[in-house]
Amino acid sequence: MRVAIIGGGVIGLSIAWRLAQLGVTVSVFETGICGREASWAAAGMLAAHIETEPTEEGLLPLARESQRLWPDFAAELERATGLNVGYRAEGTMMVALTRDDAEKLRFTHDLHRRMDLPISWLSAAEVLSREPYLNPRLSGGVFSPLDGQVDNRLVVAALVKACRSAGCAINENTRVDRVDVTDGRVAGLHVQGDDSVSAFYPADIVVMAAGAWSRAIQGLPTRSRLPVRPVKGQMLALRMDPLAPLLRHVIWAPNCYLVPRLDGRLIIGATTEERGFDRSQTAGGTLALLDGAWRALPGIEELPIEEMWCGFRPGSRDDLPILGTTDTEGLILATGHHRNGILLTPITAKAIVETIISGTPSELIRPFSLARFEATVPA
Ligand code: FAD
Ligand code: GLY
Repeated sequence: MRVAIIGGGVIGLSIAWRLAQLGVTVSVFETGICGREASWAAAGMLAAHIETEPTEEGLLPLARESQRLWPDFAAELERATGLNVGYRAEGTMMVALTRDDAEKLRFTHDLHRRMDLPISWLSAAEVLSREPYLNPRLSGGVFSPLDGQVDNRLVVAALVKACRSAGCAINENTRVDRVDVTDGRVAGLHVQGDDSVSAFYPADIVVMAAGAWSRAIQGLPTRSRLPVRPVKGQMLALRMDPLAPLLRHVIWAPNCYLVPRLDGRLIIGATTEERGFDRSQTAGGTLALLDGAWRALPGIEELPIEEMWCGFRPGSRDDLPILGTTDTEGLILATGHHRNGILLTPITAKAIVETIISGTPSELIRPFSLARFEATVPA
C-alpha cells in the first residue's frame, strides 16, 4: 500500500509517522516547509476541558481522549528523536478581573459542571497563591488540572525527525495541485516542485491534511470538496527571564490567553478573524492582545516583544474536524481541526491510521465524517 499525504503540518506528519512505524510506504507533500503554518502559529495549549464552547460539546469525547494520549505521545516522540517537546502538565486557570467577568465566568463554570468537567472554582486568594504576579485586584477564577501545553514548534521539529527516521519520504517545496480520481477511486497526486516541473505520484490512499487550504486542492468530486476556511489568529511573544518567569500555568484572561514556555517565552494570543488568507499583523489586533495581557499580568510592561505572527486555523462549517473516509475510494480526510489541532494530534493520527489499515472509520471519529454536511455542501 502506498500512502500520499497532502500537507506537512502536525496532522499530516503525525499520521505519516504512525504509518511509517507500521512499515507502510508513505510520502508527505508540503508546499512550503513542514509545520510552518497553523502548526507553527499555535499556542500549543492542550485545553480539552477549559476551551469547551457550548456549541462544541460534540468534540469533548475526542478531545478528552486525545488529551489522555498526549503524555505518552510526547514521551514516545522524545524517545524516538532525542528532542524535547515542552509538554507541561501544571494545569490551566481561567481568571476573572472585574465583577462582570466573574459573573460571566460563573456562567461558563455552570456549563463546565453540567458537562461534569474536572474544573473547580477558585477564590481570588487561591488564584494568586498559584500565580502571584497576576493582577492583585482580580475577582476569582477556575482551575483545570488536566489542561496543559506542549511547545508546538518543538513538536513539529520532532515529528519531522521521527518521520524521516521511520523511513517516510518528506517532499518539501512541493505543491499538490490535483488529486487524480479515476472510476471513483484515487489514483495519485499531481505535484509541482520548486523547479516548476509537474510530476505524477501514484498512490492507493491519499490523506487530505492541507489545513486551511484543504478546499483549494483540485480534482475531487464536488461532493468531496471540503467546507474549510481560514480563521486568522494574531499572536505575539514576550521574553521573560526563564529562571524567574512571571507565570507557570497557562492563563485564560478576558480577551486573551497567556502561555509561558520553559525557555522564557510568554505567548499571548489570539485574535479570531474571518479575513481569508490576509497575513497582516494589525495595530488593533496587537493592541487588544497586549491590553488584555497587561490587565491580567501588569508585570509584562517591562518585557521585550520578541516576535509577532499570525496563522490560519482550519475551520469547517460547524468548526468541528472533518475526519475519515469519503465516497471517493482511497480518499481519507484529516482536516478542519480549527482551534484544537495540536490537542487533537495524537487521536487524529491513531484514528486515521486505524481507518486506513482496517478500511472502516474508527468508532470515535464517525461523528466527524464529511457526510454530515451532505445536504448543504455547495457546488
Ligand atoms: P497546518 O499546520 O496549517 O498544515 C497544513 C499544511 O498543508 C501547511 O504546512 C501547508 O503549507 C500545507 N499545504 C497547503 N496546501 C498545500 C498543497 N496544495 N500542497 C502541499 N501542501 C499544502 N490548537 C491547539 O490545539 N491548541 C492551541 O493552543 C492552538 N492555538 C492556536 C493559535 C492560533 C493563532 C492558530 C492559528 C491556531 C491554533 N491552534 C491551536 C490550532 C492548530 O494550530 C491547528 O488546528 C493545527 O495546527 C492544524 O494542523 P494542520 O496540520 O491541519 O494544519
Ligand atoms: N486554541 C487557541 C486558539 O485557537 O487561539
